[in-house]
Amino acid sequence: MARVLSGVQSTGVPHLGNYLGAFRSWVSDQDRDDAFFFIADLHAMTVEYDPAELAPSTFEQALGLLAAGLDPARCTLFAQSHVPEHPRLAWIIECTITYGELRRMTQFKDKAGGQETVRAGLLTYPALMAADVLLYDADRVPVGDDQRQHLELTRDAAVRFNNRYGQTFVVPEAAVPAYGARVMDLQEPTRKMSKSDSSPLGTVLMLDPPEEIDRKVRKAVTDTETEVRYDPPTKPGVSNLLEVLAAATGDKPETLAAGYRDYGSLKKAVSESLVEMLAPVRERAERLRRDPGEVTEALAIGAQKARAVAGPTLERAMRAAGLLPPAGGFAR
Ligand code: TRP
Repeated sequence: MARVLSGVQSTGVPHLGNYLGAFRSWVSDQDRDDAFFFIADLHAMTVEYDPAELAPSTFEQALGLLAAGLDPARCTLFAQSHVPEHPRLAWIIECTITYGELRRMTQFKDKAGGQETVRAGLLTYPALMAADVLLYDADRVPVGDDQRQHLELTRDAAVRFNNRYGQTFVVPEAAVPAYGARVMDLQEPTRKMSKSDSSPLGTVLMLDPPEEIDRKVRKAVTDTETEVRYDPPTKPGVSNLLEVLAAATGDKPETLAAGYRDYGSLKKAVSESLVEMLAPVRERAERLRRDPGEVTEALAIGAQKARAVAGPTLERAMRAAGLLPPAGGFAR
């Protein structure tokens, strides 16, 4: 069975882009593969954040993932900070890759914007991400385009470590999520739907009540024509709605376009299919909110299962790197 692993940052509340682009496909991965998913709360510390919000958002993200359908009995779901092997292996990786490689990462350049005052962790972010992956001997890592360069560096780190210190890590493949859909902001359909950069009206949250979903879809930006046609370059708004509908129904956007005569009926269909698709997710979320202990318990089980895999890998890596093993081994 292949091992698949992916992570999501803990800031913000999950939205439709997370659900259609990642979570939904993770849910199907858990039945096919040996699946590991985690909330990257340590990565959330690489930029300015409110410490009062970090724990609640990690909890919220875990609740969202369980509501989306991840099942602690069928996958390993955990919080990154609950598995101390991650930052420990990250140090070893920092001593495997170079300053030049880190400095050239596009995400770093974008987020740092040339400022000296950015956190050092923003620079070393990809080393922690490589540790996240390599600790679990992951074969396949489903990520969006913005994370591909980090995955490439993870592969380089694994190969380099193996060459320098002997075979230790599995070299992972970046993978496109099984049913990944790229969802654009409903108000600004040329940019990706995201919790940080988007207008509240442009972002459908995974747990929005039906009225909210309907309101946001109806206010979605279209264009001055009236014809429903799938043509992303000239009709980004309408095409995005068709893609969302396609992702929710399993049809093709081009085929769907033929079935609607005006924007109003398309929007109605999009809103109805989203409400229907997300209803069970909302129901599970409400149940979990009444019983938050279930979320805490799921994370505890996940951390335990994760450590059982991560511990031996860390042990192997620290020995290979030549460190003196303490009595009883490194990974305790
Ligand atoms: N950096 C990823 C993101 O921002 C989240 C992440 C952290 C991740 N560690 C990972 C994804 C390891 C895949 C594998 O989306």
